[in-house]
Amino acid sequence: MEIITIIGAGYVGVSTAALLSNCGYKVYLIDTNQDRLDSIASGKSFFFEEGMDPLIAAGVQSKTLIPTSSYKEAVPHSTFIFSCVGTPDNPDGSSNLTYVFAAAETAAGLMKPGTIYIQKSTVPVGTGQKVSAAIAKKQPDFSYVSNPEFLREGTALQDSLYFDRVVVGGESHQANQAVLDIYVSVETARDKLAKQAGIETGHTNGAYIETNLSGAELVKVTANAFLALKISFANSIAKLADQAGADIIEIMDAVGSDRRIGRAFLNASRGYGGGCFPKDVSGLISSAEEHGVDLSIMNAATDVNDSMAGYIANKAKDILGTVEGKRIAILGLAFKAGTSDARRSPGVKLANILDKRGATIHCYDPEATDEAKEDLRKGVQVHDSIKAAVQDADAVFVATDWPLFVKYRLPELRKHMKGTLLVDCMNAYDISEVEAAGLHYMGVGRNGNNQ
Ligand code: UDX
Repeated sequence: MEIITIIGAGYVGVSTAALLSNCGYKVYLIDTNQDRLDSIASGKSFFFEEGMDPLIAAGVQSKTLIPTSSYKEAVPHSTFIFSCVGTPDNPDGSSNLTYVFAAAETAAGLMKPGTIYIQKSTVPVGTGQKVSAAIAKKQPDFSYVSNPEFLREGTALQDSLYFDRVVVGGESHQANQAVLDIYVSVETARDKLAKQAGIETGHTNGAYIETNLSGAELVKVTANAFLALKISFANSIAKLADQAGADIIEIMDAVGSDRRIGRAFLNASRGYGGGCFPKDVSGLISSAEEHGVDLSIMNAATDVNDSMAGYIANKAKDILGTVEGKRIAILGLAFKAGTSDARRSPGVKLANILDKRGATIHCYDPEATDEAKEDLRKGVQVHDSIKAAVQDADAVFVATDWPLFVKYRLPELRKHMKGTLLVDCMNAYDISEVEAAGLHYMGVGRNGNNQ
């Protein structure tokens, strides 16, 4: 059985380990955080992700998934090493690569000759060359392959099993192919794995793409930057739609029906958050600056995104007269539905803005309250049910489109509230249903349909 080491038990590392340990590989999952390792050893991920736990439990039980803090236990036996460590952003927007280099240098001292070192963490273009040079000082006989990750939180397994593409880039064609072969194993076993995880099976004709090292590094950030651009574009047009009396959903349905454009990621909202888009966009801007290239288009996308929570708060204030002294419920602290991740969460941002402006804020999220707490301002209160959060509210802001919120009976919501304003920050509600329940609807760019 081929042995693989995965360094970093974050979202990417755990997802990769869960899959590979159930399709023919023995996987060591290394992390320095003992709580995370203990959680994996007990058959559970430390974060909420549909289908993940059954796979982790199966891997741990069959001893093909071994969580450990010891590089020595894992690295010397492994043919492949996946680096999945975190790359947080520095205050200036560039990526902090401390963990990327630390992982590579520690592994390098223990790697057997011929090991393939695979970089899955999102790193700025040019990083691979530097990491390669650092490894080569300790183990010159190895290959470096960039293999960016495209999974989305909330649909991590679906995205990994039914992928659109796998990209590899490195100097050794043979090593690139060996990495692609791992994904062929995943693709071959995917329906079985989906059933085991209890998630829906799917079908994609995923592409296997080989580029050079810089190309692979750039594919990941370029894809995310383009998606961020689409969202900020939709949000800019939404502001115009609000002024001009049009509905952004009607506009984007029509625009997105053009096959050259596509409908995905053109949903106006309170802006994007999470651990990827904001960081990848700022990282790309830093890379461009370093290479003397003007990428002001991405600065504009960032500015639009940064403006959205304030834009929504201002619009709501115009309806309420003032937010000062008002009781406002925020439903949704995760950066999107289906995850417990509250990094750069727009819901948290909205809560803090409104709290600062003198409103009393009551929040609820089915999964992300613990993670969100540390970023919420002191006065913001967190509840353990929708009902408790919306009780006597003058306005309810739905910041994340959890089905639990969108399916909540609107007459019931109205009954608990004191006021009538429903702020649909994800444009997830049917306006006529909201109005039929006696609520006042406010969306993002939907003024054409609710004036
Ligand atoms: C993203 C990429 O999609 C994925 O390929 C990459 O590997 C990691 O980054 P993720 O951050 O998990 O994944 O979330 P995603 O579903 O892409 O959503 C990002 C943010 O954009 C969320 O806050 C979401 O609410 C927001 N969004 C998304 C919109 O506001 N409008 C849209 O149309 C789509």
